[in-house]
Amino acid sequence: MRIYKVKDYNEMSRKAANIISAQVILKPDTVLGLATGSSPIGIYKQLAAWYQKGDLDFSEVRSVNLDEYQGLSPENNQSYAYFMRHNFFDAINIKKENTYIPNGLAEDTAAECTRYNAIIRNLGGIDLQLLGLGGNGHIGFNEPGDCFEKETHLVKLSDNTITANSRFFDSAEDVPKYAISTGIKNIMQAKSILLIVSGPAKAKALYKALCGPITPAVPASILQLHNNVTVVADEEALELVPDSIIFY
Ligand code: F6R
Repeated sequence: MRIYKVKDYNEMSRKAANIISAQVILKPDTVLGLATGSSPIGIYKQLAAWYQKGDLDFSEVRSVNLDEYQGLSPENNQSYAYFMRHNFFDAINIKKENTYIPNGLAEDTAAECTRYNAIIRNLGGIDLQLLGLGGNGHIGFNEPGDCFEKETHLVKLSDNTITANSRFFDSAEDVPKYAISTGIKNIMQAKSILLIVSGPAKAKALYKALCGPITPAVPASILQLHNNVTVVADEEALELVPDSIIFY
């Protein structure tokens, strides 16, 4: 595991965007696993800026998102499908038919989960999986629990996640209670993983993820077992992690 400590959110975004950019340059038809939320917005902005300058080409890139709220249509401005278009896809030349996000409106959730797992498999797996970290240690919407969920599944969001994500909605009541998320096995099968973490609210979760026991109570702790993980986190997020395990 490589851990890069950077000054702040902007530096995190630039460094992580550099890593993704290198991946796209080295493998133009790369399969990117993508995340939503506040953490990756700066990365998407930076990548879009490099695309606008002519430095990056996404025409062959395929992308698979981690998750989607159940019950929200792709047109709903709180959906992750909308988020991805608004924050990234509309600003680059990725082909929309090469972008995959779970269908939050699927009537048969189990069939949708099976379909999504097959999409990832048929793409040949994920080359680079981008992950944010929940304040409760979740990755994707794999919430703390008694066992690691393996593949794409329906999740009942924890109160912690609903409260954290209510900042994007009018009120906590408006946050969907369920989501479809890829599982820990989907994530762990990615060839490489890029975890980005910023801010003091994530410090405890990041410490437990990097230094604590590997347990489904802290889903991100499983990343300690992956052999190609890069963490880019800022000083505030890394506050509790001993300097001895950090690269600068
Ligand atoms: C988003 C996702 C979540 C977020 C996490 C952190 O697709 O799967 O795991 O990455 O909740 O969210 P932010 O970045 O908003 O703090």
